[in-house]
Amino acid sequence: MRYQTAAILVLLMAANAFAGDVPALIPLPQKMECRDGAFTLQAKTRILTDATSRETGKYLVERLGKATGYNLETATTTKAQPGKGTILLTTKDANPGLGAEGYELIVTADSVVVRAGKSAGLFYGVQSLLELMPPEVFAAKPVVGMDWKIPCVQIEDQPRFKWRGFMLDVARHFFTKDEVKQMLDVLALHKINTFHFHLTDDQGWRIEIKKYPRLTQVGAWRKDAGFGLDPKASTAYGPDGRYGGYYTQDDIRELVAYARAKHITIVPEIEMPGHASAALAAFPELSCNGGPYSPNAEGGVFAGVYCAGKDETFEFLQNVLAEVRQLFPGQYIHIGGDEVPKDNWQKCPRCQARMKQEGLKTEHELQSYFVRRIEKFVNAQGRNLIGWSEIREGGLAQNAVVMDWIGGAVEAASAGHDVVMAPTKFCYLDYYQSTNHATEPKAIGGYLPLSNVYSFEPIPANLDAQYQSHILGGQGNLWTEYVPNFKHAEFMAFPRLCALAEVTWSPKASRNWDDFTRRLQTQFQRFDQLGVNYRKGTPERIGE
Ligand code: ACM
Ligand code: ZN
Repeated sequence: MRYQTAAILVLLMAANAFAGDVPALIPLPQKMECRDGAFTLQAKTRILTDATSRETGKYLVERLGKATGYNLETATTTKAQPGKGTILLTTKDANPGLGAEGYELIVTADSVVVRAGKSAGLFYGVQSLLELMPPEVFAAKPVVGMDWKIPCVQIEDQPRFKWRGFMLDVARHFFTKDEVKQMLDVLALHKINTFHFHLTDDQGWRIEIKKYPRLTQVGAWRKDAGFGLDPKASTAYGPDGRYGGYYTQDDIRELVAYARAKHITIVPEIEMPGHASAALAAFPELSCNGGPYSPNAEGGVFAGVYCAGKDETFEFLQNVLAEVRQLFPGQYIHIGGDEVPKDNWQKCPRCQARMKQEGLKTEHELQSYFVRRIEKFVNAQGRNLIGWSEIREGGLAQNAVVMDWIGGAVEAASAGHDVVMAPTKFCYLDYYQSTNHATEPKAIGGYLPLSNVYSFEPIPANLDAQYQSHILGGQGNLWTEYVPNFKHAEFMAFPRLCALAEVTWSPKASRNWDDFTRRLQTQFQRFDQLGVNYRKGTPERIGE
């Protein structure tokens, strides 16, 4: 009998799925109860907001207007309850236990309420509301003949982690301001709140620095797209045929404001002491041996390291960071710190003199000196320094946050440092999505199928419970050596970033592969409406 009941339930679910009203939210909410019936959005539906929810209300009206063609009426209210035929976004009677990003969403046949204490929660409630609607709600132009039903639900939701991140490397290949905005839109849909902007590397310097115009005049351009790629795979060429591009400070301000409106903080990364060939092409005197350097996709890999013995290096980097700080209002500044070759430092009389003078026994300790000195400056500017795993080598700076890609999380968190988890095994979105390389675009290597991202647990198994709150969350990293255009970047990011969004937002106990992949089919329909590229076909699972 039991079996029969279950079978009937499955059939009912299938019928509902066919009708399109089994909610398919990604990331899955913490608590969701489905009820009978639906609210139907109509041209006469009114959107009510209070002062805090006004901007989110505008955003909702705009989004709904595009897809439905309705010019929905809005009004301000101080009421805590919606009237019939209204959608109310309010901070009134919000549950403080849901935090700054949490929200309640109640849909009945008569009305819709999104209730949250803060604007981020209201925004996320609206993302869930949109995902309750038919995928056509993400269309750019009015879709006629639609029944804009929103199934009746009661949702209470808040994120598991406060750092839900995505890193885009714009140094190896350049993506335009508008492409970055498109990415921010899709991050917001997934309730991802941190965009780590990898702005400088050996192959390109992508941010205008007023004090040092040569950084972009020289460092933003290289001979060609490089990496053995078809030159036609990218459109990022200057008028003189060189490959590259950069963001002006106005562009950066525009992106920061755009992200902020979607409750995304941009964390800028300025790489040091290594991965600095593009900067050293502009200022070779800041290296140990004077170069030669070029922002060269073939020869420059890992080659460029700032001289740690010259005070001019620190003066330069501090001037750069002072401008960066003015542009990015977030709490964190990422200074890289990964993969620093030490051979130049070993041979450099200035670096060796610095070590002697500071009592540093190894080049690892010299690296630690470098990061600590920069950290002092970043802290004095009122910000926190974050760096890759290797900033632990030779001793971790006092308040630094570690971004773990090759280990160190347990040690750092146990010593009281905050940590963001981005281990290669689960978070490297530049890795292949399939073992069948014949059917995939060329990637850097590795193998990271969707199921592995979905199985990621950000809290390290061997981390003592008392230190677990130091794990701020997780992040997907998209390095772009073999990603020469934006459609390709989307292909690498999605759907793996959908899995990462769920890992970092939803309760650990709610992880369910079959249900996730069911919901993913609806996410793909949303992507089709939004014009977002993604890897299609059956996702691979390890062992299959
Ligand atoms: C890294 O992937 N080199 C941080
Ligand atoms: Zn040196």
